Amino acid sequence: MKKVTIHTLARMKAAGEKIGMITAYDASFARLLDRAGTDVLLVGDSLGMVIQGNDSTLPVTLEQMIYHTRAVRRGTERAHIVGDMPFMSYQGSIDDAVTNAGRLVAEGGAESVKLEGGSEFAEVVRRIVRAGIPVMGHIGLTPQSVHKMGGYVVQGRDNQKARQLLDDALALEAAGCFAIVLEAIPMELAAQITGRLKIPTIGIGAGIHCDGQVLVLYDLLGMNPDFAPKFVKRFADLAGAIDGATKAYLGEVRAQTFPTEAQSFHSQTLRLVTPADEEPEITETKAVYGVPV
Ligand code: KIV
Repeated sequence: MKKVTIHTLARMKAAGEKIGMITAYDASFARLLDRAGTDVLLVGDSLGMVIQGNDSTLPVTLEQMIYHTRAVRRGTERAHIVGDMPFMSYQGSIDDAVTNAGRLVAEGGAESVKLEGGSEFAEVVRRIVRAGIPVMGHIGLTPQSVHKMGGYVVQGRDNQKARQLLDDALALEAAGCFAIVLEAIPMELAAQITGRLKIPTIGIGAGIHCDGQVLVLYDLLGMNPDFAPKFVKRFADLAGAIDGATKAYLGEVRAQTFPTEAQSFHSQTLRLVTPADEEPEITETKAVYGVPV
């Protein structure tokens, strides 16, 4: 199985092949997504919302990102793994940014890192890339700046802001980014940026003209019936499936139809003694959970 690298992604853009990226936060899902042919697994700081239940990505720490990246790494063979740099792990100083990117790679097993922001982070990108770590940019709606943006709102809707985003994309490419996420911007702008860049663009709420697409795993699997933004398409109804499975299990436990003989273990040698206060005389136990002892 050939590993996806940043060079594979560059070749895909050149060949006009669309890149499929999905967020992942643990080994079990990573294994399934990897086997299904996902090109890029993003260990996104969106885990602060979908895993931890926060209302923003801001509380996520570097230690948590390393922990989840390591789990995804264990479940992945083929996909390229991007580790998201959490809030304040790269904004404070360039030296901190390089050190923290290095930790995501060395301790988490990420093969590249992603950070949010435009030309103001070009020098940070340059220095991380110089340390040998590929960087994915992320512009448009940048969730770590939710308070500056005044909410999770579409960006680049007027000419001046659109021009700024194009300049940001060009500056990030010049600084050495290998790809850029375009989040929640008009599709016409995403098309222009994609046409101007040599590196791939990965869209989320940025229309059909990007070189690839990314969705948060829990959104595409339909895990949260109360979250239905315009840019999300649910490709499954896992919330419904989980509800059905849970109710079926609880029903069988209560009706005593689960477990049955088929899910139970036996011992040929175990002799139960009565009355209950007598010492049980267990001569030999051959297996515990099916493992010989
Ligand atoms: O954290 C995340 O999941 C992301 C994607 C939405 C691009 O940054």
